[in-house]
Amino acid sequence: MLTPESTLLQSWHHNARSWIEAVRTGSIESRLQVTDQAILLAVLSRQPEHVLDLGCGEGWLLRALADRAIQAVGVDGDAALVEAARAAGSSRVHLASYEELAEAKVDIGNNYDLICANFALLHQDIIPLLAAMNALLVPGGTLVIQTVHPWTASVGDYQDGWREETFAGFKGQWQPMPWYLRTLSSWFNALDMAGFRLAGLQEPQHPQSPMPQSLLLVAEQNPPITAKVVAALGAD
Ligand SMILES: C[S@@+](CC[C@H](N)C(=O)[O-])C[C@H]1O[C@@H](n2cnc3c(N)ncnc32)[C@H](O)[C@@H]1O
Repeated sequence: MLTPESTLLQSWHHNARSWIEAVRTGSIESRLQVTDQAILLAVLSRQPEHVLDLGCGEGWLLRALADRAIQAVGVDGDAALVEAARAAGSSRVHLASYEELAEAKVDIGNNYDLICANFALLHQDIIPLLAAMNALLVPGGTLVIQTVHPWTASVGDYQDGWREETFAGFKGQWQPMPWYLRTLSSWFNALDMAGFRLAGLQEPQHPQSPMPQSLLLVAEQNPPITAKVVAALGAD
């Protein structure tokens, strides 16, 4: 049976070519004006040396990080996008679905200082994936997520649930994509359940727009309980 999750990944197999074209011709205005810079600055401000880009797509962020001498590794579930990222110069890009990553079925390296996901967490049950990513971070590592702003996208129906992106207004052939809208508290809870603590939140905005262009979450690994107790007692 087709689930929204499988239809979602399948839509990327269909939309890969059009997506590469849209990203590389700079035809998505919000990316060009606001969100590309927002995630790049959020990642750079943490001064990481070793980054994993989860759901890296055609790899623009991998290239932007490599240009700044950051060792960036990508992973994505669509073969055409992975191939495009490799062909554009990123040598370390893995092909794996989120399901495989959640079950640690594919080795994509570890000891990352930072894992980022730019508009790439679109499915419902993100907790097992985030928990698996947590295990790939160095102690105290950072997770940076940029996503659709739930308030902007909710259009009067502010609750968790599946929605549909039709890509209306985009050039090319597109298959509609199911995606899961998550409220702010739902994001917070998912991070918490996956062992992360929200450390920062931004709502990147264009000066000429009254609405935020995205939601950007910065989370840190929750210290183990024993470390928390030691810290609370003020012991070394
Ligand atoms: C909107 S694109 C973002 C790509 C890239 N992060 C960027 O900023 O251009 C979403 C990405 O998530 C990937 N993706 C979605 N569902 C996935 C899944 N279940 N497993 C692996 N990758 C998935 C898609 O293949 C696609 O590359």
